[in-house]
Formats: sequence, structure tokens, C-alpha cells
Amino acid sequence: MQSVPCRPQRSDFVVVANRLPVVGEPTESGEPSWRRSPGGLVTALEPVLRRAQGVWIGWAGECDRRTAPFSHDGMRVHPVSLSARELASYYEGFSNATVWPLFHDTIVPPTLDRGWWQSYVQVNTRFAEAAALAAAPGATVWVHDYQLLLVPAMLRTLRPDVTIGFFLHIPFPPEELFMQLPWWTEIIDGMLGADLVGFQLPRDAENFRRTAAIRGSAIDPPGADAIGRIHVGGRVAWTGAFPVAVDAAGLTTLATSAAVRGRARRIRAELGQPDTVILSVDRLDYTKGIPERLAALDALYKQGRLIPGRHATVQIVTPSRERIPQYRELRRRIEIEVGHINGAYGALGRPAVHYLHRSVGREELAAFLVATDLMLVTPLRDGMNLVAKEYAACHPDADGALILSEFAGAAAELHGAYLVNPYDTDRLASTVDAVLNDPVAQRSRRMDTMHRQVRRHDVHAWARSYLGVLHRARAGRTVLGVS
Ligand code: ADP
Ligand code: G6P
Repeated sequence: MQSVPCRPQRSDFVVVANRLPVVGEPTESGEPSWRRSPGGLVTALEPVLRRAQGVWIGWAGECDRRTAPFSHDGMRVHPVSLSARELASYYEGFSNATVWPLFHDTIVPPTLDRGWWQSYVQVNTRFAEAAALAAAPGATVWVHDYQLLLVPAMLRTLRPDVTIGFFLHIPFPPEELFMQLPWWTEIIDGMLGADLVGFQLPRDAENFRRTAAIRGSAIDPPGADAIGRIHVGGRVAWTGAFPVAVDAAGLTTLATSAAVRGRARRIRAELGQPDTVILSVDRLDYTKGIPERLAALDALYKQGRLIPGRHATVQIVTPSRERIPQYRELRRRIEIEVGHINGAYGALGRPAVHYLHRSVGREELAAFLVATDLMLVTPLRDGMNLVAKEYAACHPDADGALILSEFAGAAAELHGAYLVNPYDTDRLASTVDAVLNDPVAQRSRRMDTMHRQVRRHDVHAWARSYLGVLHRARAGRTVLGVS
């Protein structure tokens, strides 16, 4: 994809996220080569920013390297640099070994480290300064996710003229977990700097409002518009739930293209023309419930309820946060379990679990989703889970079925999914069995419901709804005469 330098113009619409949509990888020439960044945040924001033609501020995935603003594949990006020390303390440390596990039900114990916190404050300051520079007078600045919780208040101090939105892509925990953080008051104050603090689900917004009340703010609970209002230092921060979505029309078009359909047929052929293809696609993360899912598959193959050759199971994982010990340990565990299942139940040329540890391109991923009869999305905890929505978008003909964790945010919307408790591996195994034996007409009705849902509530509707409320919040601020 083409990247060309661009002048750092000020913009009316600025997205701020830890990740840029592309990661730079060093090459021999010294110029980085760019590939798409991993994760759901980039999946959601890329089509939105492309349409709005704004600027994206974020980290380009490299260390100790200053990269000038550039335009990549038609999108203007302003890289923020991180040193190797900050990578370890701000990104791998406070963001991903403190906040990430704490906000995901402490699936692994969060680490508390004062040095990491100081680095988090420093890097958040840098992002706020970069946003203040990039925003035109009166611009809208939309800050994203748990790596940048302090940026809204910092930016308000630097640029009181701009409209500030904040959206959290991951769950917001109940107060008894959140208040374990020695710096919880600073974090609440940071988030409350926004005009609108957005969450995936109403329960995340409720958790946040309860914690803000403990911090001392007066709260107006949500009224008919489902928006809560928090009084903070003479102004009002609005809060609400805005479930993030996917570019469903784009995915449906891709999934029905001759190229993707053809590739889907070839994938089934490469898998040995099984009766049933079962697929999971995840970032390699302990929140995704991969070992628990493999335990259920182990039981199914052991009991002969799944048979290699007749049933082909595919697990694709994107490498993620590979220097963090818990992620390395998880990879080891998964690969041992896949090896065990294949050693015990596979045959020559017919493994029980086909395992790919890599990122695949957009078309290839769509082809896998099209080729799949049964999709397993079973995180232990997930703010939303876009893979589930992508699967539904890729099945306009209402074929296929989705087994979905009740602990994924997507479960609140995808009513056609077969819901499971991912910790209950026996029940997960029996649900796989039950779905495969469900009448086709029933599966098809469920899939049709999900496809319509993701088409109606797509990522553009999500952005419109969030930004619409943000501008109402800002108008309220002007009317009150406080900015
Ligand atoms: P998270 O944001 O925690 O990574 P999501 O399910 O919300 O989880 O989003 C993951 C995104 O990454 C989806 O758009 C999905 O298609 C993409 N993805 C996951 N694994 C792969 C892979 N191996 N190759 C390419 N894309 C992937
Ligand atoms: C999740 C987070 C994003 C993050 C992504 C990938 O989607 O909500 O903020 O960008 O995972 O993780 P990474 O650490 O590679 O940015």
C-alpha cells in the first residue's frame, strides 16, 4: 500500500488511538514497510475515518523512531513516537499488564507498578499534545480506548475550544475491581474530561457512573434518551452505550465476490472436502478462551462426536503482545494442546485441528468465514467481539451457525447465536453437537436474524449515533455557557 509524506495540516476531525491503522516494519532500505494493525479497534475505525477524511493520531508500532505525518492508502496519519522504555512501561506494562487484565475480570492478575503509571501519564501527555496540535479551532477530537484514559482531561486543559469524545472498546469493570487501581481517581478524572464518555454496553456505562458517584460527582441517571449525565466541576459529561460494529455492507460485497467464493471453495477442498468446517479466529489473547475451547474440541474428538476428515476444525490466531510473559505462556499452552489433540485423534493428512499462527489478509479472512459451517466465538470476556459480527456479515444467504460466549458484548445484539458459558467446556461440547444436529431451517432463521442485525447496525451507524450525541452534548455545553 502506498504511503506518501503529507504536511501536518490542522483538521476538523481527529481520531486519537494508541494504534495507527498500520504498523511500520523496518526494512533494509531504512524506510519502513507498512502492514495493517491487529485488533478490533482498527477494524472499526478505519472505514469511519476514511469516510470522514480526518487525521488519525497514533503509534506506528516502532520504537525510538520519529516518523513525519504521512498519508497511507488515502488516510492522513500523524505518528506519535514511543521509546523502547515506554514500550515496556506504558504499552506492555500499564496498558496491557495492568489495565487490560483488570478491565477483563482479572482473568490474569494485574500487575501494579508505580514506574509504569508514571510512564502512562507521560505518554498520555504526549498524545494530548499531539491532538492539540492537529485539531483545527472548534474541531471534534475522538479519543479511543484504555491506553489513553487520561487524554480527555489533558486535552481539555490544552484546548478548551474543541469537542472531546472518548470511547472505551473494552469492558468497564465494577467499582470493586476498578478501585483496586491506586490511581483510579486520576483515571476517572481523565475520562470525565470528555463531553461524551461512550461504552459498548449499558452495564459498562452504569459501572462508570457508579464509580464517578463514589468519586463525588452528582449523577443524573439515563432518561428516555438512555444518556446519563455526570456533573463535574461546573460542566456536564454525558455517558452512554454505543455498541461498536463492522463495515457490514463492505464485507457482504467481499463475501459474495467471485474471487472470495472461489477461494472459499478451494479452502474446503484443501481441508479435504469435509462435511463440516468449524472455525475460530482470534487475536492470541487470554481473554479469548482458546484453551477452554480446545478442551471442548478434545472431548468431542475423543468421544467420536467429531471425526477428522468428516469434520475439519480450523483455529487461526493473530500473534499479539508477544513480549508479555502471559501471552508467551498462553501460546505455549495452546500449541501443546493442539499438538496433543492432533497426536491423539488426527491421521496422516487429516489433522483434527488445523492451526495457523499468523495474520491473514482481508480477502482470505472473508473466504475462511464464507467456507465455515460453524463459527466458535467463545471469549471469557470481550467488550464486543467483531469476529462474530464479521461472520454474520459474510453470510447473506443465511447458511452457517454461530456459537457465541455470553460474556462477549456481541451477545447482547446477536440474538440468532447459540449462547454458551465458555468456562463450561462440557456444555460447550454438547452445544457443538446440538447445533450440528439442529434442523437446517432453524439454523438458517437464526443466521438470517444475525445478518439483518449487523447490516442495520453497521459501523457507520455506530459512528453517526456516537457523534450525533457528542454534538448534542457539546451544544448543551454552549447553552450552559461553560466551555
Ligand atoms: P480484539 O479487538 O480483541 O482483537 P475483535 O474480535 O473485536 O477482537 O477484533 C479482532 C479483529 O481482528 C477482527 O476484525 C478480526 O477479523 C481480525 N483478526 C483476528 N484474527 C485475525 C487473523 N489471524 N488475521 C487477520 N485478521 C484477524
Ligand atoms: C483490542 C484493543 C485495541 C488494540 C487491539 C490490538 O482491540 O481494544 O485498543 O489496538 O486489541 O492490540 P494491540 O496491543 O496490538 O494494539
